[in-house]
Amino acid sequence: MRLQDKVAIVTGAASGIGRATAILFAREGARLILNDIDEPGLNAVLSQIGKDTHRGVIGSVTEEDTARRLARDAMAAFGRIDVLVNNAGIHVVREVTDMTVEEWDRLMDINLKSMFLCCKHVIPHMLAKKKGSIVNLASISSFIGQEMEGGSTFAYNITKAGARQLTTSLASRYAPDGIRVNCVCPGSVETNILKRPTKEERDAFWRQAVQGEPIGRNGQPEEIANAILFLASDESSFVTGCPLIVDGGFLSR
Ligand SMILES: NC(=O)c1ccc[n+]([C@@H]2O[C@H](COP(=O)([O-])OP(=O)(O)OC[C@H]3O[C@@H](n4cnc5c(N)ncnc54)[C@H](O)[C@@H]3O)[C@@H](O)[C@H]2O)c1
Repeated sequence: MRLQDKVAIVTGAASGIGRATAILFAREGARLILNDIDEPGLNAVLSQIGKDTHRGVIGSVTEEDTARRLARDAMAAFGRIDVLVNNAGIHVVREVTDMTVEEWDRLMDINLKSMFLCCKHVIPHMLAKKKGSIVNLASISSFIGQEMEGGSTFAYNITKAGARQLTTSLASRYAPDGIRVNCVCPGSVETNILKRPTKEERDAFWRQAVQGEPIGRNGQPEEIANAILFLASDESSFVTGCPLIVDGGFLSR
């Protein structure tokens, strides 16, 4: 019970890494405020972990009102916020020469502005308790000029580098106040993030992604959730500003 009596907010909790994190956190004793735009998906997770104990907030984290509601509902239901996991995100493959301003803005809003907004509304409550742990989902993409199936992920990479820098800046700013800020940098993890028209195409993509992994396989969402749990819990009490790389050795090649 490594999160016994802790209150945690997890964004993008209906699928993949966010879903695995919610399930693990619940098993470790946390009380949860979960967010997603996918209402049926979020309800399924809440049914699995217990609708009576945990709460859901449906809405896009690109909207300040959603971030405000997450913090307000956590305080109303549980009276404190110990952990914030900024997880919601999308992946985009597009050349710089082809990307529209609308596509750029949407990606920046979902992957990066969301983190700013949730930090903005959660940190005041952590400051009041002089304690808190924020975990941002960055990526190995924040370190590399990654190409994917011949296409460019430059804009996605920029959002993840932004997540890493947000982590660095907030970690040094709030360390004296008892708030730790870290990020996880996953490699290829088999989730729904890569939108492919068919299961066959999705499976084919993950099969070729294995070739980049020295460990010989892709990661599973639960393996990233374990890293998030470590950073969220008091076991990492001397860890802040840390990009924790969980990539099967991808960056060490
Ligand atoms: N899967 C990987 O290989 C990988 C690698 C590195 C980093 N990441 C990061 O991990 C995080 C989770 O990704 P995943 O792989 O679990 O993807 P996923 O698509 O399985 O889950 C993402 C969730 O975020 C939700 N979401 C999307 N836009 C939202 C919005 N505006 N407001 C609220 N919720 C929204 C989706 O509905 C979905 O439930 C992302 O930030 C992603 O960039 C993933």
